[in-house]
Amino acid sequence: AVQQRETEFVGAIDCGTTSCRFYIFDQWADIIANYQIEFEQLHPEPGWHEHDPSIYTREIDRCIEEGLKQFKDKGHELRELKCVGIATQRETTLLWDKETGEPLYNAIAWPDARNAANVRDLRARAEERTFHTPDGEIVGEEGIRRLTGLPLSTYFSATKWDWMKDNVEEVADAIEKKTLLMGTVDTWLVYQYTGGEKHITDASNACRTLLYNLHKQDWCDELCEFFQVPMDALPRVVSNSEVYGVFKKGHPLEGVPIAGLIGDQQAALVGNKCLKKGDAKQTYGTGCFMLYNTGTEVVRSTHGLVSTVGYKMGPNEPLHYALEGSVAVGGSSVTWLRDNLGMIEHPREAGKLAEQVEDTGGVYFVTGFSGLFAPYWDMRATGMMIGLSTYTTKHHIARATLEATCFQTRAILEAMSKDVALSAAAGGGKPKPDGNGERVDGVKGEDDQGEDPAEIRVLQVDGGMTGSDVTMQLQADILGIDVRRPLMRESTVLGAALLAGAALKLFGWDLSTADSLAKVNRLDVSVFKSQITDEEREWKYAGWVRAIDRARGWQT
Ligand code: G3P
Repeated sequence: AVQQRETEFVGAIDCGTTSCRFYIFDQWADIIANYQIEFEQLHPEPGWHEHDPSIYTREIDRCIEEGLKQFKDKGHELRELKCVGIATQRETTLLWDKETGEPLYNAIAWPDARNAANVRDLRARAEERTFHTPDGEIVGEEGIRRLTGLPLSTYFSATKWDWMKDNVEEVADAIEKKTLLMGTVDTWLVYQYTGGEKHITDASNACRTLLYNLHKQDWCDELCEFFQVPMDALPRVVSNSEVYGVFKKGHPLEGVPIAGLIGDQQAALVGNKCLKKGDAKQTYGTGCFMLYNTGTEVVRSTHGLVSTVGYKMGPNEPLHYALEGSVAVGGSSVTWLRDNLGMIEHPREAGKLAEQVEDTGGVYFVTGFSGLFAPYWDMRATGMMIGLSTYTTKHHIARATLEATCFQTRAILEAMSKDVALSAAAGGGKPKPDGNGERVDGVKGEDDQGEDPAEIRVLQVDGGMTGSDVTMQLQADILGIDVRRPLMRESTVLGAALLAGAALKLFGWDLSTADSLAKVNRLDVSVFKSQITDEEREWKYAGWVRAIDRARGWQT
């Protein structure tokens, strides 16, 4: 018989773009139970990307049921699960009715680019007015960028809202009746799980809407007026680690506190223990996102990155910011090979195909399915394959697909290094080395004699695509720096679990410092080192730069 243990555990939900998962961790972040399901993606028109809102809780609940089954099979009981943290895809926008609780339209997912033409109009309208920023009154998109840290792009929530308010009759009715509620996926999940009691969003999700003032750390009246958003429809902004409510009656997790809420990329920052200024991580999910912790100061990018909320570890804790490089298409390029081309049956086969050739045979694949995000920000760019010949096989295409994410990562890393160097030179402070002298944070420290203090020389990675050795080797080759991959790569769920556990003061977890997490997730790490010469690397990258130039501005 299985022996009954009286221990404490933490659960975490990750509601990503293409899949969701539920994990249960112990105090060392060892995985006690886990289950994952892929979501159905809706693409009703070219460039459109939606989710049926009911899919989120339906699939997450299936993961929870399977996870709880594993948990109970190991002899545990629900009361040992002390709390649950939630991490979500960001920017995806939902509107629903306060009275009926019913969604007014499908969720418009973050890669959806339907509103590109209107965004150009919004840009023109912004040029006709000034915005009151901490740097004074600034005209146009630049004013919006100074307030929010974001460019005007189809990526962010307010531009999705802009389309819904003009095109969905039910939305206009709800505005009229004053019954409209707005939210991102975090808002929707907490609303569902608390039985409609809580209408909240966390700061890391709020800051991706184009409606949040990064400096004031709250919704911005000026931007709500610009985007015609009724402020009473917006959720209340909360921190990332506190008890927001409990799972509703009748739910498999009935009564369990929800104690962590955060955007998935920021969750991965926490899950990687990047808790001090100068720490950086890159997550390869549906998209691909590099975040660099800038401490309690907003660092403004001049190289095409966005300034964003990192985390706020409790209602009375200071807010930490990050610089982010967002790549729209990462793992989704591989699922595209599977679902749209039928070239592979499982994502892992892409690596297997790629391994069978030495190079791409001159093929470059610009995966601009949602236009291009950082550092290019070109909504008119499209996907493009170039360099094809009768020599080209599916092996070359698979390899070019993997390389596309790696090249975009290099473009981001270059932008990040320049921004960080500028910030350090301006007195924003140099990144510090890790306390024990061992560099684990992806950034070298100020005691590195004779070298640029802002240079990023190790990339800390996690997420689905990092399971592929060939991809990680390509990444190290294309970057020319070491790529460091932990054995337990589910940093997003781990981050959500740490935030929830810390809110309840479990296991001595204290997120104001990484010290209390020393024993958490200490499993092995693999390091990938470049195996090509600098000359080869620069030659390959020069081809990418030429390919990008061709894909830009394609759509009229
Ligand atoms: O900004 C979008 C991001 O939050 C989506 O993350 O994990 O679905 O690629 P993921």
